[in-house]
Amino acid sequence: MCGIAGYVGPRNAVEVVLDQLKRLEYRGYDSAGVAYRNGSALKTVKRAGKLTELSGLLGSKLPVSHLAIAHSRWATHGAPTDLNAHPHSDQSGRIALIHNGIIENYLELKEELVREGHVFQSETDTEVAAHVIGREYDSGVELDEAVRRGVRRMRGAYAFVVASADEPEKIVAVRAASPLVIGLGDGETFLASDIPALLPYTRRVIVLEGGQVAVLTPAGVVVTDVNGASVAVHPFEADWDIESAEKGGYEHFMLKEIHEQPDVVHQCLLGRLTPDNRVVLDQVFSNHVLQDIDRVNIIACGTAYHAGLMAKFIFERMLRLPTDVFYSSEFRYGDPVLSPRSLAIFVSQSGETADSLAALRLCKARRIRTLGIVNVVGSSIARECDRVLFTQAGPEISVASTKAYTAQVLTLFLFSLHMAQVREMPGVRIKETVAALRKFGDYVQDAMAGEDQIKGVAAKFKDARLVFFLGRGADASLSLEGALKLKEIAYIPTQECPAGEMKHGPLALIEPGIPIVFGATDPDVREKLASNIKEVQARGGHAIVITTSDDVTLGAITDTLIKVPQTGNTYLNALLTIVPMQLFAYYTAKALGCEIDQPRNLAKSVTVE
Ligand code: AGP
Repeated sequence: MCGIAGYVGPRNAVEVVLDQLKRLEYRGYDSAGVAYRNGSALKTVKRAGKLTELSGLLGSKLPVSHLAIAHSRWATHGAPTDLNAHPHSDQSGRIALIHNGIIENYLELKEELVREGHVFQSETDTEVAAHVIGREYDSGVELDEAVRRGVRRMRGAYAFVVASADEPEKIVAVRAASPLVIGLGDGETFLASDIPALLPYTRRVIVLEGGQVAVLTPAGVVVTDVNGASVAVHPFEADWDIESAEKGGYEHFMLKEIHEQPDVVHQCLLGRLTPDNRVVLDQVFSNHVLQDIDRVNIIACGTAYHAGLMAKFIFERMLRLPTDVFYSSEFRYGDPVLSPRSLAIFVSQSGETADSLAALRLCKARRIRTLGIVNVVGSSIARECDRVLFTQAGPEISVASTKAYTAQVLTLFLFSLHMAQVREMPGVRIKETVAALRKFGDYVQDAMAGEDQIKGVAAKFKDARLVFFLGRGADASLSLEGALKLKEIAYIPTQECPAGEMKHGPLALIEPGIPIVFGATDPDVREKLASNIKEVQARGGHAIVITTSDDVTLGAITDTLIKVPQTGNTYLNALLTIVPMQLFAYYTAKALGCEIDQPRNLAKSVTVE
């Protein structure tokens, strides 16, 4: 997500941290800032926009300083403005703080501080963190102790870096979840959110673990836990080249992003579940409005459209709420019939897709309520929708969408649970579902365990001239997304449809050796699906069946069986099948030598019709 840089030592610190931020630019950001030691004070310079904007403010002759921290922000709380950019300061103005991640209880902390007379400049949770730590610092303790005390008051998944005007050679860093790495030099110490920013300076690296606090000085680093007990650290030599370091050691961004999904699940759920297993979505419409909705229209393109199909299944099954899903390009020219009590939901990773934006404007012109499910904060769709739920998946770089899809489905699922609470749906087991959601990140991680098996399956079928993707119910919507992944990066034609449709035409395409990928997680239709499996096998097709770990029936009739964990929830079981399907597409494309992150003819963000 956001980029973090820090330096203390004899070099020009401002120059070093700006160079570090530049090396993190590939992650995407929308504002940047730096705080550096300037005489006996800390000076902060920050600006919305790209690094060139910040450099312009700093001038061509960079200030000379031997301690600096810097940040490139990818907005999550508050728009990408100068004021919301990092670093932020405490009430006294003595400390500067940069931050990645989310502080879940920041509103509660902010109220407490406001009651004590604190004044805030921005809308960010980061500024609240600066004030919490500043308040501890005012009691006379050293900066690292103030950070430890402050952190004990905060909940969430985050990393902070703090410097004080009163401690000229010290940077304090704390990791609760978001990554932080420290680089050890000779009489100098570096800090970053990601290894590529360290490599030009040093290859001796320490990866900070969750719950650790690091005190950086030119002499090196001392690490403790949040209670101050010392922790042994083990530096290693990072032998990656810079290009592979940007991809976190993975060969492609797509593989990195597939593997980020367990963490994306945590990020997406952060701040949205209560300790007593309910859903809180403060950003959506009032309960009165949500009770009034009589129909939902979901409008999106590509992968986001597929997330919408899954949501239709959930809204209709769980909420009994009539839902239609439209391709944006069809909706905008289709003269749609829109109920004045309907809700239009726009799903978009980039928030800039031209057809989706035009469809949104059409709904607004017709005075229809609009809700965005968007990844990029500050994007056009996010700005123009009446309400937005951010998917919190972090920047997605590979053209083939993977982690954004998982986050879109989860966000829509959270919205449906929120609706179920508001509309008091008696049959919806909110608490059990939320409990399953809490474990979902771990289940996604477990689903990765089948990676080697899938690599083998991909190698076996890489020369297939056609691949089928079939399923029933929720699995049918997932199969569309699995097929899109394969065709867009491996250029293999696919046929995808509900399994029950096969006999009405597509069955004619089955030939000996053709692989058919079945999503088969729903026990209610398992018998029907077993018949579909037999039908394709009778014509020489090779059935690759993805089912849950507890299934005991499909193994006996399947050519290749891939298992995903049983989550205890029908929708989440189906969603898990995206992991093997994404890996199948990736390894097939790799075996064929395709250009994975930049597939031919496609762009990440389709801003033209
Ligand atoms: C899928 O892998 C594609 N990148 C594409 O289908 C994408 O989902 C579609 O263009 C919509 O983009 P958006 O989510 O940014 O609106």
